[in-house]
Amino acid sequence: MRHLIDPMDFSIEELEDLFSLADEIIKDQNSFKKVCEDKILATLFYEPSTRTRFSFEVAMLRLGGKVIGFSDPGSSSVMKGESIPDTIRTVGSYVDIIAIRHPKEGAPKYASFYSPVPLINAGDGGHQHPTQTLTDLYTIRKTKGQISNLTIGLCGDLKFGRTVHSLVKAMSRYENIKFILISPKELQIPEYIKTEVLLKKGIPFIEIERLEDVIGTLDILYMTRVQKERFFNEADYIRLKDSYILDNEKLKLANKDLSILHPLPRVNEISYEVDDDPRAVYFQQVKYGMFVRMALIMKLLGVA
Ligand code: NCD
Repeated sequence: MRHLIDPMDFSIEELEDLFSLADEIIKDQNSFKKVCEDKILATLFYEPSTRTRFSFEVAMLRLGGKVIGFSDPGSSSVMKGESIPDTIRTVGSYVDIIAIRHPKEGAPKYASFYSPVPLINAGDGGHQHPTQTLTDLYTIRKTKGQISNLTIGLCGDLKFGRTVHSLVKAMSRYENIKFILISPKELQIPEYIKTEVLLKKGIPFIEIERLEDVIGTLDILYMTRVQKERFFNEADYIRLKDSYILDNEKLKLANKDLSILHPLPRVNEISYEVDDDPRAVYFQQVKYGMFVRMALIMKLLGVA
């Protein structure tokens, strides 16, 4: 039985296999509409979500499966003090696969030790978000035709942004990748990503504060929201929240073939005017997230 807890849980070959399956699904959705007919997915969301939860649920529905779950743990026995292991054992005895999002880092991994069915980390605190990474990699592969030989700028809250941590880890396995880490000093990428991933593997990266200074060198610009919910005091959040606002003026400095990604939700970091620029692919990215999750559910359930 396989879980997906960390972006490195699948090898590059397995990812390629999963992405090819997503390609097939996009080409011919009809032939997949019954493949999970007798299967049930549970979504256990202990933190807010729009895209991740809905895309998981719709993915399962489009595969012919069914869905149960909660988006507000206040309505479940969590409120009575039930532990994660007991909740997972219980839900795992009713369903075939579980997606869990939790504010505590490491909670999905801990849950996986007790899960009788495949379990997916749908985001754990400021730590990892591997299914967003599948979505991001697939979007890059679709728009650039490859995931190698790229200069990627990650901009915004690199400290608390779990999608950034997972994407850097995952992309560090591909050939000839260069990372440009754009953030205020206070929101730089955690030390462990630098020492255990970038420095350890000798992957080129720079840390810089001004987006304008590097935007012209990028193949991909991955914008992120300042993660309000992870700040200890509101004054810091207010001071840092509008550190970056990508607009048409700044985009004049960028390459013609830049791809702009964002895991969403956006707050102020990308002006709405940018949405009409052909380089903005974040709404395509949203849609790819559903197809990638369809492929992932199939792989973990062993129906592909
Ligand atoms: C991200 C998350 O939850 O980490 N959202 C998502 O799943 N697409 C990014 C964010 O909340 O900023």
